[in-house]
Amino acid sequence: MKVTILTQFPDMFGPVTTSILGRAAEKGLLELDIVNIRDYTLDKHRKTDDTPFGGGAGMVMTPQPAFDALRSLEAQGKRILYMSPRGPILDQRLAEDLATEEEFFILCGHYEGVDERILKAWNMEEVSIGDYILTGGELAAMVLVDCVSRLVPGVLGSGDSLSEESIYSGLLEYPQYTKPRSYEGMDVPEVLFNGNHKLIHLWQYEESLRLTAKRRPDLFARYVQLDPDLTKDEKKILEKVMRETQSVE
Ligand code: ADE
Repeated sequence: MKVTILTQFPDMFGPVTTSILGRAAEKGLLELDIVNIRDYTLDKHRKTDDTPFGGGAGMVMTPQPAFDALRSLEAQGKRILYMSPRGPILDQRLAEDLATEEEFFILCGHYEGVDERILKAWNMEEVSIGDYILTGGELAAMVLVDCVSRLVPGVLGSGDSLSEESIYSGLLEYPQYTKPRSYEGMDVPEVLFNGNHKLIHLWQYEESLRLTAKRRPDLFARYVQLDPDLTKDEKKILEKVMRETQSVE
């Protein structure tokens, strides 16, 4: 997968070139191209933004450097995201959708944003990472690249496998424990030591369902509606947690 990021602040992208994503790049699974929009400006002071028409605070990215950069990178007809709190909020479904792309582009804005003509002419898809305002799109782009890249086959090591995630998809993660078995009087649940993988899985599934129903009833309702493909035992557990949830309401 190739992701081209257009930014006025290329130095901010250090974190996505290290660790798991750095290894993915070395393995040739992920190509991150960080492009400095300033390199495309025709302004003699290398400016890429200007004051907004109609007044108001802040600066707005001018069309010329963005248009020229996108033309030179041959972005015509390709998927281009613009990180912005105006867009739909990034979720696992959108990440899975983006992970199927061979290539896409991300534009990062700063200050008051970008000239609307950039978004219109290049048919950009606005994406937010949450209902809060960042100083720019760079951190948001890194969040998106991180969660999309881990879905690209081969990016995670076998130890971080995604294969388990299907029936848990849309649920919060069950509690995890490691050594020691007992710590300051707190014991790890007994079921995790019985060696019966089916029982362990059912316990983990129940914990996931319970946590989701309690903390994120919106996700739980969506999960139930999705009608996941379950075994008989899993179905029984889901029905039990649904009954419990209804009796609490
Ligand atoms: N730029 C500024 N705030 C943002 C947000 N919440 N999501 C995406 N891009 C942004």
